[in-house]
Amino acid sequence: MNKKRILTGDRPTGRLHIGHYFGSLKTRLEMQEKEEYDQYILIADVQALTDNFHQPEKVRKNVRQLAIDYLSIGIDPKKTTIYIQSMIPEVAELTVFYSNLVTIARLQRNPTVKTEIAQKRELFGESVTYGFLGYPVSQAADITAFEGELVPVGEDQLPLIEQCREIVRKFNSIYGDVLVEPQAVLSSEKRIKGLDGNEKMGKSLGNAIYLSDSEEEIRKKVMGAVTDPNRIRKDDLGNPDVCMVYYYHNLFSSKDEKIKVCEECKKGQRGCVNCKKQLASNIIEYLKPIREKRRYYEEHIEEVDKILFEGTKKAQITAKETMKKVKKAMKLDY
Ligand code: TRP
Repeated sequence: MNKKRILTGDRPTGRLHIGHYFGSLKTRLEMQEKEEYDQYILIADVQALTDNFHQPEKVRKNVRQLAIDYLSIGIDPKKTTIYIQSMIPEVAELTVFYSNLVTIARLQRNPTVKTEIAQKRELFGESVTYGFLGYPVSQAADITAFEGELVPVGEDQLPLIEQCREIVRKFNSIYGDVLVEPQAVLSSEKRIKGLDGNEKMGKSLGNAIYLSDSEEEIRKKVMGAVTDPNRIRKDDLGNPDVCMVYYYHNLFSSKDEKIKVCEECKKGQRGCVNCKKQLASNIIEYLKPIREKRRYYEEHIEEVDKILFEGTKKAQITAKETMKKVKKAMKLDY
């Protein structure tokens, strides 16, 4: 059977949190179990450098941490190929070739890039770098080097996939039908709110529970979660719909517990402190298998390196095959 290639990845700039877990990571776990798919996950260290060029040690450290996050949630290297972007030189080469097929104006119009540039004023000042503005081109190379057909992404990544599709069409119209045009797959996942009630859970917002957090860190974070601001004393009637503790009970607690939490809160029969303690225990229990696997890999770091090395070796072979076709089409096959 001809399997459909799925290509996804992350920038190694920080650890993964429960927002990622209920979102992209669950999708990847599902995809790897389906016979019809061949999943590649890239650790996008070169892309991470586009806005972390001044912090190479941070990127380096997070490559392994990201790999451990993947492995500890159950990404299985026998079913999914995990590889390091910088070790695939073809991706850099394709980026150069594709850069002729994209205009500066088009890159500047990319909504994702536009938003990110606005957020990164402090780093870039008045004028953004060529590398950052051009990272959608490099991402197009990531996808096409592996003939990625499906790219499961969150909404914020859609403009990048669209830009990749344009590059593919342009390439194929000039050099012949060589590249595979990918399709974005919008995951049905819901976005998990932060502990502070923010719509987004994120590192920069300081409102995330990480998969690698210790039991103590989880307890401390849950104790600081935002509850119904109108509920001051225990016997005040509460509104669970505006309480982040109740929101997370919905994700981590049993059905019976959830109903009880909701009813008792509404009747003013439940204290927030106890409610938080119960939630923290449930989150800790839920993440326990992940924490245990993480501990195993942290103690066997040579296994992680071997998995990365072998995944990358396999990816190199795939990328070489694509490059051969591309160079032939572009008359660069000397
Ligand atoms: N841009 C993605 C992110 O910031 C990471 C990424 C790089 C990616 N190359 C990719 C995602 C190719 C999907 C396909 O999370």
